Amino acid sequence: MPDIRGSIHGQWSSRFVFILAAVGSAVGLGNIWKFPYITGENGGGAFVVVYLICIALIGVPIMMAEILIGRRGRQSPINTMHALVADEKAHPAWRWLGWLGVLTGFLILSYYSVIAGWALAYVFRAGAGLFAGANAESVSTLFGALLDSPESMLAWHTIFMVMTMAVVARGVRSGLERAVTILMPALFALLVVLVLYALYAGDFARGAAFLFNPDFDKVFQHCELLESGVESCRFSGEPLLIALGHAFFTLSLGMGAIMVYGSYMPGNASIARATLTIVAADTAAALLAGLAIFPIVFANGLEPAAGPGLIFQTLPIAFGAMPGGQVFGTLFFVLLVFAAWTSAISLIEPAVAWLVENRGMARVPAALAVGAPAWVLGVGSVLSFNLWSGESFQFFGKTWFDLVDYLTANILLPLGGLLIALFAGWVMSRAASRGELRMGDGVGYRTWRFLVRYVSPWLVVIVFLNAIGLL
Ligand code: TRP
Repeated sequence: MPDIRGSIHGQWSSRFVFILAAVGSAVGLGNIWKFPYITGENGGGAFVVVYLICIALIGVPIMMAEILIGRRGRQSPINTMHALVADEKAHPAWRWLGWLGVLTGFLILSYYSVIAGWALAYVFRAGAGLFAGANAESVSTLFGALLDSPESMLAWHTIFMVMTMAVVARGVRSGLERAVTILMPALFALLVVLVLYALYAGDFARGAAFLFNPDFDKVFQHCELLESGVESCRFSGEPLLIALGHAFFTLSLGMGAIMVYGSYMPGNASIARATLTIVAADTAAALLAGLAIFPIVFANGLEPAAGPGLIFQTLPIAFGAMPGGQVFGTLFFVLLVFAAWTSAISLIEPAVAWLVENRGMARVPAALAVGAPAWVLGVGSVLSFNLWSGESFQFFGKTWFDLVDYLTANILLPLGGLLIALFAGWVMSRAASRGELRMGDGVGYRTWRFLVRYVSPWLVVIVFLNAIGLL
């Protein structure tokens, strides 16, 4: 089937480049920073099982839906939704889906840049040899010093945001294609080196058991000691919501990032095959990160539930002890910054593409118009770890950073993903989705349509209802 539209922003030079760009977007802080720390906070194996189920039953079909919508519309998500609403004669309210995505991406970018700033700071700490002979105590002092200094966190946050705006201003394709081809494989190689090190020097058996032995009671039973001395336990669905939200976050789904990349995808490439490759790479990166980190956590008596600082308080111990650790450590944080960079770019591309299409802006002012306010919002996240960490600055018991993270990952992304699934499964005609997926009417297409119509939406709704206590 020929394309019905063309993209004014150009196309990826091949289908392989689309996959690389999407992997660049998916693999980022979510895999290496967030996955280990939320797995640690949520008790390990059973959480990982739920996360993997969400990836397979919700992530895969919704990623296919997002790419197919993007490629059919060939514009920024906002205009793509306009075009498809017209094609399908759907209710005009569906157009809001594009806007929801832009807002979500903007909010995520604001704190993503702050955490990427930590990784930037660690490039120089590793390079200066500060990890040599590190132990649990010294790494936590080192990390604490960063958190206690709003000035330096702000400086790193600023540098990262400028880096992101610079690439987006020049056009995503020219910068991204080259960076991703070399750096993504290097990051994987280094993760493997770290896992081998954990195998040799860490408590690998315990780390692997923590990740892969599901103990559902430990994760889902919340027990309290009552005043009478009796222990009262109840089921808590919170980890379900966090695992679901993370499936969206790590695959860059639910806000139009993959949609906008899909709109630059060559017409003849297979969406299903691309999706499976992207998902496999993303999941492998997360599991490798977990296998590198938890053995070190247990061998050094660290706390798996240490929170957002987890990787910054474990990996330096490994780099401090391994031969060549200064070089490996520096390289690792450099690659982590690149992984975060290629993800952050995809967070503002939908908004920038829209400004270029509808406001006739050049890319440079468009990138500034999105990046600058996201930077301002990020200051709230910088302060959440120091000046605003106190209770008087908390809302619902959460700091600004926690709140923005919770709202975006656990509510806005699954909501956006739910709407994308409903649009692709119920609003778009069979002919439209089948034509765009180019997979005929076989088992593959039928399975996808069944998942995206019934399974993914219901699972999201059930987890939502459970989280607000209605189920
Ligand atoms: N997936 C990226 C990560 O794991 C983050 C990211 C990039 C993202 N683009 C996104 C998350 C769009 C949600 C939506 O680090």
